[in-house]
Amino acid sequence: MNAPLPVEVLKQHLIDPEICIRCNTCEETCPVDAITHDSNNYVVDPEICNGCMACVPPCPTGSIDNWRLVVRAEAYSVQDQLGWEELPQEKPLPVDAAAAGEGGQPMPAPQAESGLAQAAAVTAATPGAAVPPWSAAHPYVNLYTHKTPITATVVGNYRVTGADTESDIHHIVLDFGEQPFPVLEGQSIGILPPGVDAQGRPHHARQYSLASPRDGERAGYNNLSLTVKRVTQDHGGAAAHGVCSNYLCDLAKNDPVQVIGPFGHTFLMPNHPQANLIMICTGTGSAPMRAMTERSRRLIGTADIGKLMLFFGARTERELPYFGPLMKLPRDFIDINLALSREPGQPKRYVQDLIRERAAHVRGLLADRNTCIYVCGLKGMEVGVLDALRDVVVQSGEDWSILHDALRREGRLHFETY
Ligand code: A2P
Repeated sequence: MNAPLPVEVLKQHLIDPEICIRCNTCEETCPVDAITHDSNNYVVDPEICNGCMACVPPCPTGSIDNWRLVVRAEAYSVQDQLGWEELPQEKPLPVDAAAAGEGGQPMPAPQAESGLAQAAAVTAATPGAAVPPWSAAHPYVNLYTHKTPITATVVGNYRVTGADTESDIHHIVLDFGEQPFPVLEGQSIGILPPGVDAQGRPHHARQYSLASPRDGERAGYNNLSLTVKRVTQDHGGAAAHGVCSNYLCDLAKNDPVQVIGPFGHTFLMPNHPQANLIMICTGTGSAPMRAMTERSRRLIGTADIGKLMLFFGARTERELPYFGPLMKLPRDFIDINLALSREPGQPKRYVQDLIRERAAHVRGLLADRNTCIYVCGLKGMEVGVLDALRDVVVQSGEDWSILHDALRREGRLHFETY
């Protein structure tokens, strides 16, 4: 007579704290604000998450893609998840709930499970692509984790901005010796700074983009480089001490460094002949652009490389990392456009101003389906760059939204901002 009520099963979305590198991408991407964090973990609120999957493709580590079947009334709460050091094992469901999950009973599942559907879901939430360019090489990710880091050795650490300037930016070279650490341009690694945080827990990894190409900072060597700015202020300009950036900038030759990664499977360069790159960056956002430029430079004479166009924003020439080596690159190899915002005697210029100034050229490259666009640096430039690209396209009577959709769908527009 009194039949038991069906038990509602939830496919609960969880983030693996052992793999997550706390880069905030998921929280920024989530269209319904279901993701939150504290100083320990990034977590998903089961009351809000609708399984739309928008956060899954942009995650550089894949830590976001974890699911547990749970009885809805017993879902892991935000508080539970904030305290985790690792994901719980999947618990067996009660028999009636398991049957419900298998049958037609309510079990809200992610709305989009296929790669294509994921990509479609994410395009609505983020301005960039959720897929790499079609010809990108296969990236390896998460070979080394918080629990199983790899030890690299510092083989170089020097400042790449003028000594008299506020911007203390370092070029740091790490060597992996005999240990495998395969990377691609556009990928990043995590650095585990020694010591503990205010709660006495080991520091989480901080993420840095590679500044060197896949075959090493020095070609044929098992090493890579990073571009690190010493953080002495927070975003609001108040004094702040960046735990990892200061640790890295103060490293000496032969010091050991704990590394995890590599990370990233979308911000990757095309591999096919005649592929063009439009690279737009500010400050240390130049790291992946240096990696891609150097990859292309090393291919000169051996492959049919396309056009490279760089828009690089910095306060002054002396605060622009790698200014000297950059200016030595042949002009028929790379079209360099420097946007200086605080150079005495010059008008303030941002990268988006130069994109508009070079509209004809940018338009020409955008019209070519072999062109990929990479944007890396300050979060604030994201909107400005998109507006500038839209203006350039609209000026020629074309529809930006159609092109923008194609750029995202085809993995030809990528953002890495912070
Ligand atoms: P600004 O002089 O206005 O700060 P930083 O040295 O802080 O990393 O910044 C790198 C460059 O990016 C600087 O020239 C800075 O200019 C510029 N910048 C700041 N905000 C934006 C923005 N919203 N769009 C483009 N460039 C920006």
